[in-house]
Amino acid sequence: RNDPLVVFTPSGKRGHFEVGTPILTAARQLGVDLDSVCGGRGICSKCQITPSYGEFSKHGVTVREGALSEWNKVEQRYKDKRGLIDGRRLGCQATVQGDVVIDVPPESQVHKQVVRKRAEARDIILDPSTKLYYVEVAEPDMHDPSGDLERLRDALRDQWELENVAADLHILQSMQPILRKGDWKVTVAVHLGDAENPPRIMNIWPGYYDGTVYGLAVDLGSTTIAAHLCDLQTGEVLASSGVMNPQIRFGEDLMSRVSYSMMNAGGADEMTEAVREGMRALFTQIAAEAQIDKALIVDAVFVCNPVMHHLFLGIDPFELGQAPFALTTNNALRLRADDLDLNIHPSARVYLLPCIAGHVGADAAAVALSEAPDKSDDLVLVVDVGTNAEILLGNKEKVLACSSPTGPAFEGAQISSGQRAAPGAIERVEINPITKDPRFKVIGSDLWSDDPDFSKEVGPSGITGICGSGIIEMVAEMRMNGIVDAPGLIGSPEQTGTERCFLDGRTYSYLVFDGKAEGGPRITVTNRDIREIQMAKAALYSGARLLMDKFGVDKVDRVVLAGAFGAHISSKHAMVLGMIPDAPLDKVTSAGNAAGTGARIALLNTAARAEIEATVGAIHKIETAIEPRFQEHFVNASAIPNSVEPFPILNS
Ligand code: FES
Repeated sequence: RNDPLVVFTPSGKRGHFEVGTPILTAARQLGVDLDSVCGGRGICSKCQITPSYGEFSKHGVTVREGALSEWNKVEQRYKDKRGLIDGRRLGCQATVQGDVVIDVPPESQVHKQVVRKRAEARDIILDPSTKLYYVEVAEPDMHDPSGDLERLRDALRDQWELENVAADLHILQSMQPILRKGDWKVTVAVHLGDAENPPRIMNIWPGYYDGTVYGLAVDLGSTTIAAHLCDLQTGEVLASSGVMNPQIRFGEDLMSRVSYSMMNAGGADEMTEAVREGMRALFTQIAAEAQIDKALIVDAVFVCNPVMHHLFLGIDPFELGQAPFALTTNNALRLRADDLDLNIHPSARVYLLPCIAGHVGADAAAVALSEAPDKSDDLVLVVDVGTNAEILLGNKEKVLACSSPTGPAFEGAQISSGQRAAPGAIERVEINPITKDPRFKVIGSDLWSDDPDFSKEVGPSGITGICGSGIIEMVAEMRMNGIVDAPGLIGSPEQTGTERCFLDGRTYSYLVFDGKAEGGPRITVTNRDIREIQMAKAALYSGARLLMDKFGVDKVDRVVLAGAFGAHISSKHAMVLGMIPDAPLDKVTSAGNAAGTGARIALLNTAARAEIEATVGAIHKIETAIEPRFQEHFVNASAIPNSVEPFPILNS
């Protein structure tokens, strides 16, 4: 062929095109991902490309100056008015004149990669639910009567190949003046539709709209509600914020909230209103932080446990409080913001991830989406540590899931000096093997307590208690230093060799810090605290072990600790305690808030929604409550680290 060769990088796609073909047209014909909002009119600059000159042996092309057309008036006008980075051209204006290699920079790709910070995490490919389109609409004509909406729909079909686009009443109410103000040129935000809904116009602006639209990824937890606000065109997180779940006043944990709804007529409704109110407050806060208009939030994804799921939707969680723990639906839900009284765009699309089972919710589905055990060659154990631990075990072949009632001890509750993770909480501990004295770090300071500057920076009154990760380290350090024995008893001063152990009722306690003389607290670890941690870790371990039985294995290749507090747990201490099965320490990693990340993936990549729905359908659910082996494991697992299971890697 004599027509010039055009090669696109990084995709490597290539083809021959007639002289004079715009690069945007060539890209479209080859299926190269090159963005455009204005449809090639030289207005939006989303189509920027960089031509490369020289020899390209890899592509077999020699590119000479003049391989692209000279700057035309439209492109020159854009450059003069708005500026273009050196070397960049507008792909819709520059045309092919000779063989050429064209680089499409990430910001010109619709499906750009949103990079995640963890090396082992998969990147998110942007595939947003809502896109912006600039269209030129035919003016009304007495001889051919048709409505403005019909002509707008025709324009979207002809200029953008968007068929059957629907519009809600609020769009109809504002459309006529906007069309006229824009002189029949408008930008529309179109939600591209999903399995259950046609594409829909969400917003309309006169002329070219240079802004963006937003989405929310929300992790609705029993204690806190956390949200990320994302730009749907770039995938960037613009603000992250959280509020306490106002349902706490009806009960700290899930079961007490379920009982509140059982004991009080209208109790479930009260809790629904409370959580939605919390949500509205959070959205107001996050929009203010990012300085954006809430009405531009057109998509929202929610993940939560089953009880939260029902209460948020306004469904009485009664059935979740008793066997066989039936959910109203375990399918994913596609709703509208005004169904849930949310204060964002009234017809914003709302997506709730599917639940896995009555005890394993959409939050676990989100963890599965983020950590993708179903795509792993290694056998991976993912534990989302919270009041209810949600546990996944699997690889490419199959994935099993269960939940285990760990209780709130890992969050610092029911521990004598326990507290939530907040400034002043002890979060890191080391016990000296000779003196048996502890040194520690509190949240909010980088200094260890034996640093000479510690008392200046923190001081006795700046130490407030021990948080979840702190208590885990504390108990593990006590075990490693012989202060507590394998069955979980704190020894006497004679047995342990330290006066820090003192008789406290009928058992011994260990003194961590005494700041009483200087107006600070006295922090101790009691034998009851040790018991609470033993129960919690035994529940976690037994759940994991049960899944391993079902899988037919006695070891796993790697362990991922997830959960807002999972990020802070030291893997060594978790293993000394016997929270998780034996595994090489470098194969135990933290995923941070994986449920929140899963929500963000489902928000930014709409294809991931179908993916997780299929994955969840294939996950085998194990109900710990009816498995006799769970009890057996539980009894063995209360010892530290365990009374029967060996920990060969840990011991070596
Ligand atoms: Fe909009 Fe090229 S496509 S400027």
